[in-house]
Amino acid sequence: TPLDLAIRGGTIVTASDSFIADIGVRGGKIVQISETIENALETVDATGLMVLPGGVDGHVHLSQPTSDGTVMADDFESGTRSAAAGGNTTILPFALQEKGRSLRQCVTEYHEKAEGNCLVDVSFHLIVSDPTPQVLGQELPALVKDGYTSFKVFMTYDDLMLTDSQLLEVFEVARREKALVMVHAEGHDAIKHMTRKLEESGKTAPYYHALAHSEIAEREATHRAISHAQLTDIPIVIVHVSGRDPMEQIQWARKRGLKVFAETCPQYIALTKDDLQGLNMDFEGAKYVCSPPPRDQAGQDAIWEGLRDGTFDIFSSDHAPFQFQGSNNTGKDNPNARTSFKWVPNGIPGVETRLPILFSEGVSKGRISIERFVALTSTNPARLYGLYPRKGSLVVGADADIVLWDREKTATIRQQDLHHGADYTPYEGMEITGWPVRTILRGKTIMVDGEVTGSKGDGAYCSREISDFI
Ligand code: URP
Ligand code: ZN
Ligand code: ZN
Ligand code: ZN
Repeated sequence: TPLDLAIRGGTIVTASDSFIADIGVRGGKIVQISETIENALETVDATGLMVLPGGVDGHVHLSQPTSDGTVMADDFESGTRSAAAGGNTTILPFALQEKGRSLRQCVTEYHEKAEGNCLVDVSFHLIVSDPTPQVLGQELPALVKDGYTSFKVFMTYDDLMLTDSQLLEVFEVARREKALVMVHAEGHDAIKHMTRKLEESGKTAPYYHALAHSEIAEREATHRAISHAQLTDIPIVIVHVSGRDPMEQIQWARKRGLKVFAETCPQYIALTKDDLQGLNMDFEGAKYVCSPPPRDQAGQDAIWEGLRDGTFDIFSSDHAPFQFQGSNNTGKDNPNARTSFKWVPNGIPGVETRLPILFSEGVSKGRISIERFVALTSTNPARLYGLYPRKGSLVVGADADIVLWDREKTATIRQQDLHHGADYTPYEGMEITGWPVRTILRGKTIMVDGEVTGSKGDGAYCSREISDFI
């Protein structure tokens, strides 16, 4: 019987090497990788293109409720459409427990939001914001067994943060259940203190968010999270690491043999805190407000070092989209936010531009190899979060999740070409060399030459195994 699909003549790239070969697909799986594959119902000519495992974005926020009435600009449909356009085949959004609510109930609601609406495959990390005895004793252990094998905890934000004793309690559950904990490491009291001081001296523009969320507070919390992980003997992931100071804490821990994994994101190589100034210390800066905030050029250089030397394991978007305008004060530009940076919704869109930015700034500019690119954006997140080898690899038996890259294609990032629900991109005008030209999800082409050909319902939910690193 013929194959469903043959991808012919491209250069296959894995996390460790590159070689020219054809790929044969049947029933949504890779069934053959060899020199010549001819007998297929559909053939894609990949001559001159790079053939990579589809992007796995390990950090995405979709349809998360906020405490102040602002609304995330992407739901599961627009968010996964944007992901597909940007060369991704799997994303990991969060199922957020709101304080006072059952975590299990919240997870069920995220499934309802996602069901039938996704264009790429999806799996959920949990966010634990209210570790009651019921959550720690029953809900979390049961959820891990059901395939939600990672959860995020916050050290700041009033409506999400855990105290140190709560962090330790959650870490103990993670150890028993072999779940992987992701930590948002920023020191809450330090941020509150700096915020009050800035406000008292009239410094309320969006720019001052970058000063309130100081790298010192990030460094301190990173160390505190690592200490708690060491005490409770668990591996942890420090997510969205912004610069040299927190990186050094991670390196310090690793030298002592601790299992600390690290993630960084496009905003820390492509933006700086100066972007938060907007045009002239004006409200435009709100378009770049995220936490931790982008740092400076020296910070970017440090992040590149870390991407090269293995300090970073994964490169994710931290896609957290808000409209700039929005209607009825649901966007970043709302009356509260105009009174102080502390009310500007935190987060920026980036699921569609993550891969092009790292490819262009990293691979095309000679800072990282294309194999390292694959490791950071697909293979490592799949392994870290229990999706490997089904996702993140081009081997026989894996899902046929494939992205074709044109190394030569140049493009300028423009809001009008993107598919997300936000009304702006923080990367407007950025020149990119190297662009994904076809995204294939389990054998079906869902994007070709920038046009999304997939439809909602193509994406499926993936339950996950325990992390490869536990
Ligand atoms: O500012 C950000 N990153 N918002 C998204 C939520 C988070 O902390 O990752
Ligand atoms: Zn975070
Ligand atoms: Zn995030
Ligand atoms: Zn389009």
